[in-house]
Amino acid sequence: MTPLISVKRLSKSFPGVRALHEVQFELMAGEVHALMGENGAGKSTLMKILAGVYTRDSGEILYDGQPVDFHSPREAQAVGIGIIHQELQLMNHLTVAQNMFIGREPRSRFGLFLDEDKLNEQAREILARMHVKLDPRAIVGSVTVAKQQMVEIAKALSFDSRVLIMDEPTSALNDAEIAELFRIIRQLRDRGVGIIYISHKMDELKQISERVTVLRDGEYVATVATKDTSVEAIIGMMVGRTLSDFTPSHGTADQGEVALEVKNLNAGPLVRDVSFALRKGEILGFAGLMGAGRTEVARAVFGADPVESGETIVKGEKVTIKKPSDAVAHGIGYLSEDRKRYGLATGMDVESNIVMSNLRKFLALNFVLRRNQMRRTASHFIKLLAIRTPSAAQQVRLLSGGNQQKVVIAKWLERDCDVLFFDEPTRGIDVGAKSEIYKLLRALADQGKAIVMISSELPEILRMSDRIVVMCEGRITGELSAALATQERIMQLATQRETLKAA
Ligand SMILES: Nc1ncnc2c1ncn2[C@@H]1O[C@H](COP(=O)(O)OP(=O)(O)OP(=O)(O)O)[C@@H](O)[C@H]1O
Ligand SMILES: [Mg+2]
Repeated sequence: MTPLISVKRLSKSFPGVRALHEVQFELMAGEVHALMGENGAGKSTLMKILAGVYTRDSGEILYDGQPVDFHSPREAQAVGIGIIHQELQLMNHLTVAQNMFIGREPRSRFGLFLDEDKLNEQAREILARMHVKLDPRAIVGSVTVAKQQMVEIAKALSFDSRVLIMDEPTSALNDAEIAELFRIIRQLRDRGVGIIYISHKMDELKQISERVTVLRDGEYVATVATKDTSVEAIIGMMVGRTLSDFTPSHGTADQGEVALEVKNLNAGPLVRDVSFALRKGEILGFAGLMGAGRTEVARAVFGADPVESGETIVKGEKVTIKKPSDAVAHGIGYLSEDRKRYGLATGMDVESNIVMSNLRKFLALNFVLRRNQMRRTASHFIKLLAIRTPSAAQQVRLLSGGNQQKVVIAKWLERDCDVLFFDEPTRGIDVGAKSEIYKLLRALADQGKAIVMISSELPEILRMSDRIVVMCEGRITGELSAALATQERIMQLATQRETLKAA
């Protein structure tokens, strides 16, 4: 059988970066093919070349056995190659339906006006097929990141592609949404669509893929059948070494003084009467389903969203936090889950992003000293977090997704806050860098920082937290010590709805 796509000796360099070197890859019709590799390995670059976003330097791409050369995403789309990008590319001010059909909206009879009704109807149909509850007329900027991700997926599906590329489609989805997506993927596969699936979640690849291709440092490592290969073996191919350190990491907390206390906080429907205390040297896990209100609590404490009532006490003193700069002045930092919107100045270079939040410290120095200090700081964090970049002068938007995430972390570490909220700190981060980030969080706690870690990955919560707070529908439904917490117990609390409790 002729492969749907066959890539041979493909190379691509950017200024200062060899992103792909003589890579091969093959996709059959009716196959889900996972593409794995560490942050910066070249996965997105390879996919963008297939989708016509980038052009290759050398090598060959055969589509249905015929050599092809796409010069724009439109050309690739026209022959049936669709892509869901890692970074959402929606227009925030347009509606769901408008986003799905951007550039190919149905026109009214005289071709003058857009036929909004028809547009909404078509969008509604596709969303219904996906079992997604979403109003096609909703403004995209006002819906959750998970819903936005669903819109991207719906948009790609609307093209009737023969090849569908999914670059980390589940990073913002909850378990039920992921199950729904997998159902759709299997349906497409059974209809003969070839699907390329990129994810850092190892369990997903086992569930959904038939074959796996691994890239490392821009080079092809191997293609294997998923069912014959262990997760450990795949990780080994990705990182070129074996990872050992997966033991739980807990501190000796609970003797530290209280660094932050939040009392009876109310802020919108997802923050109802929330109270918790956080000690120095402690990692407090915030568990719950997507949409339970954990991010909203962090944002309210940080002053990013208006608060209706409640008290925030920092080191024994009641403080008023009305905006993020107030929070920072009181030593509270928040690493957002949505790096693009809140975390980074993506048009600026890596160094500026890292030192930006702490410019005052550097401005106190004379010019030469300042330059040197800033450089040293940036290179310290680049090394510490293994940020893959040709230099500190590289623009952040040119880094791979996972490496952008690391820059956000560096930025907040540099700021030296006493209390840090980490919101999904390892989302989109590869397995190797994940364990580095775990070590780092623990080291920060050991230095006396107080840390809240919001995470939707239960193994991560269980592994890292000294104590775990569980939320459901805006309320804290329970608190567990590290010793007593189990996945089952957390899930119980995470689904303990107010209405049921009352009954
Ligand atoms: N437009 C660009 N300009 C310069 N360098 C780039 C550009 N796009 C990607 N790179 C670099 O190419 C390398 C491969 O990046 P790519 O985005 O393909 O990685 P990835 O495997 O998708 O990683 P992640 O898992 O973090 O998404 C990285 O070093 C990245 O910084
Ligand atoms: Mg990528």
